[in-house]
Order: sequence, then C-alpha cells, then structure tokens
Amino acid sequence: MKHDISAIETVLKTRLSQLPVPRDILKAAELKELYASMKAMAPDERPVFGKQINLLRNHLEAAIGELEASGATGAIKELDVTAPFEVNATAPPRLLTSEEGSRHPLSAEREKVAEIFARMGFTEYTSRELDDDYHMFGALNFPEGHPARDVYDTFITEDGLIAPAHTSTMQNRILRAFEPPIRAVIIDRTFRNEDVDARHEHTFNQIEGVYVDKNINVGHLLATLKAFLESYYETNIEFRIQPFYFPFVEPGFEFALSCPFCRKKGCHICSYQGWIELLGCGMIHPNVLREGGIDPALYSGFAWGVGLDRLVMMKHDIEDIRHFQSGKLDFLRQFS
Ligand code: DAH
Repeated sequence: MKHDISAIETVLKTRLSQLPVPRDILKAAELKELYASMKAMAPDERPVFGKQINLLRNHLEAAIGELEASGATGAIKELDVTAPFEVNATAPPRLLTSEEGSRHPLSAEREKVAEIFARMGFTEYTSRELDDDYHMFGALNFPEGHPARDVYDTFITEDGLIAPAHTSTMQNRILRAFEPPIRAVIIDRTFRNEDVDARHEHTFNQIEGVYVDKNINVGHLLATLKAFLESYYETNIEFRIQPFYFPFVEPGFEFALSCPFCRKKGCHICSYQGWIELLGCGMIHPNVLREGGIDPALYSGFAWGVGLDRLVMMKHDIEDIRHFQSGKLDFLRQFS
C-alpha cells in the first residue's frame, strides 16, 4: 500500500494545533501505521521510506517545539465552563508573538520597590489574603471595641476571618520570627469596604516596613523614607511630618513629601499644593514590641505603611486607581 506522507503531515499538523498536549501527536494512529507498514515492505524500499517517516517526525517535533514555546496549545477535551475563555478556545489565543502581553505596572513597580529596599538591607515578605482579628487589631495595640478599629472597615467571613485592611498584620509575625536587627518590608494586597471612586479601590496594595534594633530613633525612620522616595522618584525630595494617631506607633506621624514632579511649584499631581500627604509611620509602640516577644527596654524600632498603587499612580500620572484592575488592554499596553 502506498502512503501519501505529505498528506498525512498536513492532517497531523492540523490536529496538533487542537491538542491540549501537542506532544501527544507523536502517538497518532497514522504514525504507528506508517511504522507498522515498513515491516511489510521489500528490504530495499525500507531505508527510503524510513527516511521519509523520520523527516515527518522531525517536522512534527519542530511544530511541537514552536507550540510549546508560544504556550498556544490547543483545545481541552472537555469544556470547562468555569475557565477563562482562552482555555476553551480552539482558535489561537489573542495575544501572540506579534503582540505579546506586558507586565502589569503594579507587578513591575512592586519589584522596583523591593529592589530599592533590598539594597537598604530590607528583606521582602508577603502578607495573607485572609487573616484573623488578633493580627489585624489585637497584636497592633487596638483595644477591643476601640473606635480606631472603625477606620479599617473591611470584609469578614462568617467564620470571623478578615480580609486584611493593611499589611501591618504582618508586624507581629515578623517580630516573633526574627531576632533584632530586623529589617523587613511586606508588600501585598489589602482590602477595604470603600465607596469605590478614582482614588479608592476595595483592593489595593500596601508596603509595610519594620525596622528594629538597639538605639533606633525617629531620625532613622525619616532618613530611610527619604532615601527610598528619592531612589524611587529619582530626584531629591523634602518632607514634612505632623503628629498622627495610629495605635501601633508612638509617636506616630503623617509624612508628606515635596512634589517630585513640579518641585513645589504646583501641578495636577500634587493638586497644586506642592506637597503630597503620602504615608503613615512612627516608632513601634512598646506594647507591639512586647506582643512580638521583643523587650522594649532593650530595643526600639520604626514602622511605616504606604500604598503601592498611590506611588505608581503618581509616578506614571495615572488618573484613576480603578484602571489597575479593569483589565483594559488600552491601559495595560501603555506599559509594555
Ligand atoms: N497600617 C496603616 C494604614 O493602613 C498605615 C501605617 C501607619 C502603617 C503607621 C504603619 C505605621 O506601620 O507606623 O492606614
């Protein structure tokens, strides 16, 4: 029996693009049949035919390699109605070679922030997306029923677990896990029950910093924040602080920086104020140190919390925080 090898190649290549695991094409019945048919051939015909099959195999291997590299493997056998549409599609996914996806601006900037702090000796940690009352409030010196808890209105499961409203939830874990000197930054998602608008999202990201050692004072805190912001915005900045109440620090401050974009002349990013209220910070409260197993008579430390989304919005002049999670390609393409 004669075999039309090039017709078989066309058939197999078409089928290949539909397979969830492209390599499975090498198990196709047609291939097995070709190999089997060799046995029935006259000995002098075999080498020529064998070469043709090998060539076909090489072509298939190359096509498999291409598909695997592009990630554009084909349809799955059973339709998964809960999966994103690309998974069920038989057509190639939309963002391919000519238009590759880009990194989300928050992921890219998160890395830059972590890198700057790494150079300053801070190790990066993640937070949790569900936490408990103790880490959200108790360990941070919020007394039960204290009105300061009201500021952190977030989502609670029926079992009493909390979607953390700040990454300060990790302070106690960091203090307990390490001996001073402690230098940690926690960058992760946080959640609030917000009236969503251009400046408020229910889900956003915070950078929490914790530094504990002997003889640490407010000067160290301010110098650290200044150094970070100057590195992140690649320009010199001035800062102002004013006293502010956060239960987990004493003293606590609100920290404002001079607008890195207009140098205090006034622009739309600083609302023509020249200054931008940016973050909360302070010296870690002795009760918080004690709760973390650290003796406040021997050690002191500072902490701060700042919104990553806010830093990135300012840097890239993004006017609406909701763009980050909108999935709008027009927005994302600007960062590719
Ligand atoms: N957790 C605070 C918030 O989300 C921010 C903050 C303020 C963190 C002061 C701190 C701090 O570590 O010292 O509003």
